[in-house]
Amino acid sequence: MRVRIKNALSENAIISLVTVLMIFFLFACGGENKEGDTGKSVDQKTNTSGLSDWELENGFGPVKKKLNLGPIDKTMAADGEKIFESKCAACHKLDERYVGPAQRNVLQRVTPEFFMNTVLNPDENLEKHPHSKQMLAEYMTKMTNQNVSLKDARALLEYFRLLDEELKNQNTKK
Ligand code: HEC
Repeated sequence: MRVRIKNALSENAIISLVTVLMIFFLFACGGENKEGDTGKSVDQKTNTSGLSDWELENGFGPVKKKLNLGPIDKTMAADGEKIFESKCAACHKLDERYVGPAQRNVLQRVTPEFFMNTVLNPDENLEKHPHSKQMLAEYMTKMTNQNVSLKDARALLEYFRLLDEELKNQNTKK
């Protein structure tokens, strides 16, 4: 009888020890995962795309690091509007679906860096990026490379930053 109680006690002790060890390892592993966390808006744990976090958030193209965006430059935005009229309006309207998606709220769908990379390098994004692929499936047309210079792509971005700011101001007034 005594022996049994003793055995039972040590069994309990072993079970508790194993539980403690399991909890310890769970936390230890969790900590390891977090080390690679870049603090960006793409959650590593949900990034199952096979792309890096950077690629998933910003697409493929010449823009390879976060842009240092200052206050909106209205002169640059006005240039961007002209470029939009001449190079993009054949396929995009601001508020309606056309050959491609409505663009006024584009910066609510994609990051500024993704925007520029799509404009500068649509083909590679169409081939590799899930957002572009999904849009292609929906619009059934490939956005063609418009040979936009880096400077013009930046001006286009400024135009959409201005439109985005106007949208946000409208929303706060409501
Ligand atoms: C030949 C038609 C065509 C032209 C010209 C065109 N686009 Fe597109 N664009 C599309 C289509 C179709 C899509 C969606 C499918 C895809 O990505 O190809 C698209 C997608 C996009 C996207 C992807 C992001 C999103 O969610 O909307 C951006 C940004 C964009 N276009 C901006 C531009 C800008 C800026 C220009 C002018 C420099 C331009 N496009 C010129 C047809 C075009």
